[in-house]
Amino acid sequence: MSNPIMQKEIKSDASNILVVKEDFKFFEEFKSVEQIYSAGIKEIKTKLEILDDEFHIRYAHNPIHHMEWRLKSPHSIFDKLERKNLPLNLDSITDHIYDIAGIRVICNYVKDIYRIADLLTSQDDITLIRIKDYIKHPKENGYRSLHLVVEVPVFLAQETQMVPVEIQIRTIAMDFWASLEHQIRYKNEEEVPSDIRKRLLECAESITELDQEMQDIHNKIKGKQNLELK
Ligand code: GTP
Ligand code: MG
Repeated sequence: MSNPIMQKEIKSDASNILVVKEDFKFFEEFKSVEQIYSAGIKEIKTKLEILDDEFHIRYAHNPIHHMEWRLKSPHSIFDKLERKNLPLNLDSITDHIYDIAGIRVICNYVKDIYRIADLLTSQDDITLIRIKDYIKHPKENGYRSLHLVVEVPVFLAQETQMVPVEIQIRTIAMDFWASLEHQIRYKNEEEVPSDIRKRLLECAESITELDQEMQDIHNKIKGKQNLELK
């Protein structure tokens, strides 16, 4: 069997928040749906693990390097609703916030990203809600990743609920850049100076070249045809 995929749950900072009385209801209400989003994460994680195992057995290649996941904290959901001027209630969460359940899939090679995305979204019980391809169209700052929002059914005692899950898929190199860029941005109170932004963009470009070179080396060694699903 393949080695289990390295996994890491990111704990959100939901505790010790100071809540004013009228907002308390919001946090209480959210608790009741948290379990359903958490189940959505489990469903998608399992699907991805199964795909990774199948690849390992068929092609001696693991497309997924590791996965991370998190539930958005009630505090940041609250902030997001306020930022978007939406009412603070459950309906507006379910109608407008798609990233409560979030999974980050770190792949070895760029091709693995699209392979994983295609295989997952073509499963019968998965509905693709939104796709943003920041690899073909990187953000101005150099950020690259494939973002999907999918809906997955969660089977409960009385009903089946469709749960949206945000999936960010990127290579190890893209993840390295995104983590450090995020730290730099959040550690600085002020806007990041333009010379630093320029250097970060150059790093992102070098990483794109590295990813292409690593993909090319991998193709040469493995032989392209061996990696295609028959
Ligand atoms: P929000 O979820 O409200 O932020 O907006 P959105 O859904 O339009 O966002 P998008 O799909 O563009 O990105 C959502 C997530 O991707 C963010 O929460 C980050 O985790 C990640 N992300 C997007 N842009 C950047 C970036 O420039 N740098 C880094 N490090 N991460 C980013
Ligand atoms: Mg988001």
